[in-house]
Amino acid sequence: MAPVSLVTVTMVTLCLYCDMTTGLSTSEAAQFTVSGSYSATLTVSSTSTTYTISSSGMPDHAWQSVNPNTPTAQNHVVTVPKTPTVASTKGCLPMGQIAITRTGVSLYNPLASGYVNAVEGSSAETFDSCDGHATDRGDYHYHKLPSSCLWQNELDYLIGVAMDGYPIYGPNTTGYSAWLTTSSLDDCHGITIGGEYRYVATTDFPYLLGCFHGVISDSSFDTTYSCSSSTNYAQWNGYLCSCHELSNAANSLTSLSQIVTLVGLVAMSTAPSQQFL
Ligand SMILES: *[C@@H]1O[C@H](CO)[C@@H](O)[C@H](O)[C@H]1NC(C)=O
Repeated sequence: MAPVSLVTVTMVTLCLYCDMTTGLSTSEAAQFTVSGSYSATLTVSSTSTTYTISSSGMPDHAWQSVNPNTPTAQNHVVTVPKTPTVASTKGCLPMGQIAITRTGVSLYNPLASGYVNAVEGSSAETFDSCDGHATDRGDYHYHKLPSSCLWQNELDYLIGVAMDGYPIYGPNTTGYSAWLTTSSLDDCHGITIGGEYRYVATTDFPYLLGCFHGVISDSSFDTTYSCSSSTNYAQWNGYLCSCHELSNAANSLTSLSQIVTLVGLVAMSTAPSQQFL
């Protein structure tokens, strides 16, 4: 075997090892299941490079119509890479869905319509006894750590997966005597443990994710906007890069594709028929 081939073989071997340290492992993917209660359905299919999670989006636990919308079956199809790619510029979070739970329920940007904190302060919304609520289109979702029914302080518990393919874990983590908080995490609300990157859901802002650590392969929206500062959310003591800030950066757009994306995002965020409750 020529030396070049040996190098290639070595690189491929290293890459296989890399695959095992990023994204959802086989055992993590196997944890995406539902009890079937409350019309919750979920299936996971995979290719050599992706997992696709298809779900009804219904919680498989009790819910109440508190805001006062009622959850209805959705048609969630989330495809994530088995091996996420670290983004060179961290991705902004769209309004609405940013991730999906192990039970197929939407996880949302911490901001609600009007770009205000959905969880805390004067703009805090009403959540049911399981920490979720539905949009006017019936999409049940969590904006915060679902600590009443989905997760109940189990150690090293998989909550779900972000749209870039990195897993989201609960804050009770082996090796830490207290729940992890935002101050222990990077801007995107993640941490590398045992060589594997994970997001951590916490009780403090921004609760789930602060930005996307990895590349989003879904081309229906562009998350590559570089957020300029965290001062917009300084009162919450946590970083958030939310895509709606694009509308504040129109003067700095340099390419047609960015402008097209901007128009699309603004249209999405102002569509009268859907509110990001
Ligand atoms: C984390 O979970 C373990 C196992 O359930 C529990 O013993 C421990 O008290 C929890 N840690 C915290 C900080 O709540």
